[in-house]
Amino acid sequence: MGRFGFFVTIEGIEGSGKSTLLYGLKEYVESLGLEVVITREPGGTTFAESVRQLILHKDDDIDPWTEVFLLLAARRENVTKVILPALRDGKVVISDRYTDSTLAYQGYGRGLPLKKLSLLNKMATSKVFPRLTFIIDLPVERGFGRKKGDLDRIEREELEFHERVRNGYLLLARKAKKRIKVLDGTKSPEELLDEAKRILKKALIEKGKIREKQYEG
Ligand code: TMP
Repeated sequence: MGRFGFFVTIEGIEGSGKSTLLYGLKEYVESLGLEVVITREPGGTTFAESVRQLILHKDDDIDPWTEVFLLLAARRENVTKVILPALRDGKVVISDRYTDSTLAYQGYGRGLPLKKLSLLNKMATSKVFPRLTFIIDLPVERGFGRKKGDLDRIEREELEFHERVRNGYLLLARKAKKRIKVLDGTKSPEELLDEAKRILKKALIEKGKIREKQYEG
């Protein structure tokens, strides 16, 4: 494997099936003989998981920028302690959510300016951005239909908020066609995984992480 690893993120609205895809891809990448580190946002380190609790499970009405700065503080910890060290070791990193979530939720969802959010994303990550991003797209009601148990602070937002987030993701995908691949989340988990595996395999071959003939699966 080349010196630097390969960074993949998975994005989508609530109940889009990100975790199922994440674990499927992890197994797949391991089957290719590569080392994988998985993480999630907000979260990934003990500190960032505490910030996650604050963001999602406190009922206080917080200012939208407070939410942004908390998300970015958690991201900074995840990048410096988990993501970057793994990439420097040549590993494949797969993150359940990352910078695009901030643009989709705080930008398109809450209406904060995308330019400022992008700049803050750059600062928080020192420009460590994914090479490949999967957005799992599906109607908002379908996603919520899959949710079990109590809803968290962001899930409790009105339907229109989640519609804006969904449409925001699709706009982001249109602006970054090479990096972002939209998957049809109404398909079965097996079909989704197969499609994602094909795309990831191609990207790993292109970046010289695996050789073309070596793996048929
Ligand atoms: P999830 O990982 O279980 O989907 O929950 C994370 C929640 O946090 C989800 O509602 C989206 C939200 N979120 C943001 O609003 N902005 C962000 O930048 C990130 C990473 C997550």
